[in-house]
Amino acid sequence: MTMDGGVGGLVLAAGKGTRMHSEVPKVLRTLLGEPMLAYVLSACAPLCGENLHVVVGHRADEVRRRFPEMAGRFVVQAEQRGTGHALASALPDLTQAGYGHVLVVNGDVPLLTPEVLNEFAAKALAMEADLAFASIEVEDPGAYGRVVREPGGVRIVEAKDYDASRLGPATGEINAGIYFMRLSLARELTPRLSNDNTSGEYYITDLVEMAAAAGKKVVAVNRGRDAALLGVNSPRELAAAEERLRVAIVDGLFDSGVMVRVPDQVRVGPHAVVAPGAVLCGPCEMYGRCRIGAGARVASHVVMRDSELAPGCEVLPFSHLEGAVVGTGCKVGPFARLRPGAVLMEDARVGNFVEVKKSVLESGVKAGHLSYLGDARVGAGTNIGAGTITCNYDGRDKHATVIGENVFIGSNTALVAPVTVGKGALVGAGSIITQDVPDGMLAVGRARQVNLSRRRRSS
Ligand code: UD1
Ligand code: CA
Repeated sequence: MTMDGGVGGLVLAAGKGTRMHSEVPKVLRTLLGEPMLAYVLSACAPLCGENLHVVVGHRADEVRRRFPEMAGRFVVQAEQRGTGHALASALPDLTQAGYGHVLVVNGDVPLLTPEVLNEFAAKALAMEADLAFASIEVEDPGAYGRVVREPGGVRIVEAKDYDASRLGPATGEINAGIYFMRLSLARELTPRLSNDNTSGEYYITDLVEMAAAAGKKVVAVNRGRDAALLGVNSPRELAAAEERLRVAIVDGLFDSGVMVRVPDQVRVGPHAVVAPGAVLCGPCEMYGRCRIGAGARVASHVVMRDSELAPGCEVLPFSHLEGAVVGTGCKVGPFARLRPGAVLMEDARVGNFVEVKKSVLESGVKAGHLSYLGDARVGAGTNIGAGTITCNYDGRDKHATVIGENVFIGSNTALVAPVTVGKGALVGAGSIITQDVPDGMLAVGRARQVNLSRRRRSS
């Protein structure tokens, strides 16, 4: 079998996904925090490498922006006139690239894996198919295209066009929306597709019957009940696919030695890296590029995104972390909020109702209660009293607060930035600090208390 020109990949992702009832393009709807299309692209990547193209259309700019690494490999299908029309839109680019074969994959099959694609493509090549497609067996063929096997050959009949009175009840073998074909065949047959069907669309699936009629070798690769090929067309199917992924990821965590409590309520995205020996307690959510070190503990009701927990640190219930880095021995929460740029060095402590944004808390810093630390650097061993606020925004610009080592900030202090509190200083409770405090000084910035004698009430 020759493979002149190699294999090009084409993901069809231009559709709106009408049955999702959402303005967001279907391929950008997320599963465990990642867009559906990201899953499909990473399934295709090992087989197709750089030879992967994506057809976009509905809100194409949004889809493109979400995948900057695919720049230059998008094809725009301005009007979505069906999957056959989507393939036709990409033919000039595929032809120019000079591929021998093209692997076409629907963009709404997020459970797809590189192994499934490899096996499918290998089988198609081994059988010297001119056109192959993957099929699966489902309980209810629903809106899927039905595979009809007749003595004359195989074809796909779309659900809306399926006439049971003529064809008999559907068998449950459906088209999975993955095709492998010679590019020469696609170029020959695609221009001849018609939209004379119930939907008024150009169906890629019609190529099957056309290829067979032209005497080409058509192969249906039946993958049985393989769930990796289930499509997502409705909110229910999206949730079901997400649940399958979730279970697979949690199983992987168990296998690698992570302790997962209440496992059916732990939601971890595909890019999280959790070290063996870490403990996650459900319900909790962890999306994006999270890194959890050995022995770190994440309590229930924690939501994390793109955050790192060093070995041995602890996040207590109801805390939210986004873009945060938490060092060894730190304790966060309950009810803490770490926003992007929050960096806690070893043994720092952030307690309930404390919000930290774009601030470094050096080792051993304590901010136990009810505070806001934004655009700040807090030196090692400093104590931030309850109710301390860095006033970092003047209505136009953000300003920095710098607090030295071993400082004590009394409760209910407002630090009006830009401002510096020198090391070893002490700020009296209730102060409004608008001027720098030199090292080792006591600053009190509030009205002095006066005790006046009470006027006696005349009786
Ligand atoms: C399609 C198949 C059906 C199969 C099912 C498998 C056709 C005609 N039918 O049906 O046989 O059982 O997938 O999941 O192909 N798209 C475009 N441009 C368009 C229309 C669609 O890029 O003009 C993209 C969509 O974004 C989607 C994919 O093609 O990712 C499939 O389209 P969809 O409308 O979901 O097709 P199904 O009705 O599911
Ligand atoms: Ca679909």
